Amino acid sequence: MNEITQVTQSTPVPTPAGKAVPTLPDAQTVTQVTHWTDRLFSFRLTRPASLRFRSGEFVMIGLMGDPHPETGKQKPLLRAYSIASPSWDDELEFYSIKVPDGPLTSRLQHIQVGDEIILRPKPVGTLVHDALLPGKRLWLFATGTGFAPYASLLRDPQTYEDYDEIIVTHTCREVGELAYGAQLIEQIRNDEMLAELIGEGFADKLRYYPTTTREDSPKMGRITDLLRSGEAFEDLGVPGIAPDVDRAMICGNLAFNLELKALLEGFGLIEGANSKPQHYVVEKAFLD
Ligand code: A2P
Repeated sequence: MNEITQVTQSTPVPTPAGKAVPTLPDAQTVTQVTHWTDRLFSFRLTRPASLRFRSGEFVMIGLMGDPHPETGKQKPLLRAYSIASPSWDDELEFYSIKVPDGPLTSRLQHIQVGDEIILRPKPVGTLVHDALLPGKRLWLFATGTGFAPYASLLRDPQTYEDYDEIIVTHTCREVGELAYGAQLIEQIRNDEMLAELIGEGFADKLRYYPTTTREDSPKMGRITDLLRSGEAFEDLGVPGIAPDVDRAMICGNLAFNLELKALLEGFGLIEGANSKPQHYVVEKAFLD
C-alpha cells in the first residue's frame, strides 16, 4: 500500500434555517469536506440561487489573501476550478489538489464545514456538450484532478442522451488517487434517480478505464502510451478513434493535454470551441 490511503469521512451538515450573513464578497458556505489522500480533497459549497452553469464549466473560487504588509489591504486569492457537481444539484462540488506551498491550496486544504469561500458566479469553459458536434462515442480523458469536470458531465442526463457509449479514462500516479473517480462511477451506476431520469440500463453505456503510472494496479501506464500502442482499444474492444464516430474531451496537466491533442489530431479529429463545435475539446486542470 502507499502512504496515502487514509480517507477522512465527510461530515455533511444540514443547511441552517437562518443563513449567516456573508462576510466576504460573493461568499458561499462550506457544507462538506472529504480528504481522499494527502494530496487530494473534495468539498461542497452552498450554491447561489442565481448561478446557472453548463456541466463541465469552471468558476473562480478562493479565499481572502494575507493583508498587504504596508497598507494592510486584503485582496481575494482566486483560481479556476471546474464544477464537479451536475447542473441540477442544489450544492456545488469541487475536487482539488493540495500543494504544500501553493498560495491558495496550502490554505484551502484546511477549510471546514461552516467556513466561507469566495465564489465568482461567472461560469465559463470549453468542456461542454455545446462545443462538440453530434457523435456516437464520447471519450473523457483525465489525469489527476482533471477528472473534476467529468464528475459533473457524468451526472448530466444529456451525456447519456447524446451518446451510445461514454469511455472515461483516468490516469494517476497511485491507486489512492483514483478513489474519488472510482467511487463516483460506482455511485452513478447505482443511482436510481438517474436511472429513472435517463432510463433503465443507462449505466451500460458508461465504461471506466483507470490506469496508474507509479504504483501497481490492474492497468498500468499512461493513457497516451496505451492509445498509441493500441492496447487501450484492445482492452475496451473498440476499433480505434475516428472523426465520424468519436468525440473527446481532454483535461489534465499541460504535457498530457498537448500529447493527447497531437494524438487525436493524428486520428483526424479537429479541436472545437463554444463558437465552433468540432470533434474534441481541451482544458487545463487547475494547478496551484
Ligand atoms: P507519470 O507518473 O508517468 O508522470 P501529475 O500528478 O504529475 O499531474 O500526473 C498525473 C498523471 O498524469 C501521472 O500518472 C502522470 O504519469 C501522467 N502524465 C504526466 N504527463 C503525461 C503525459 N505527457 N502524457 C500522459 N500522461 C502523463
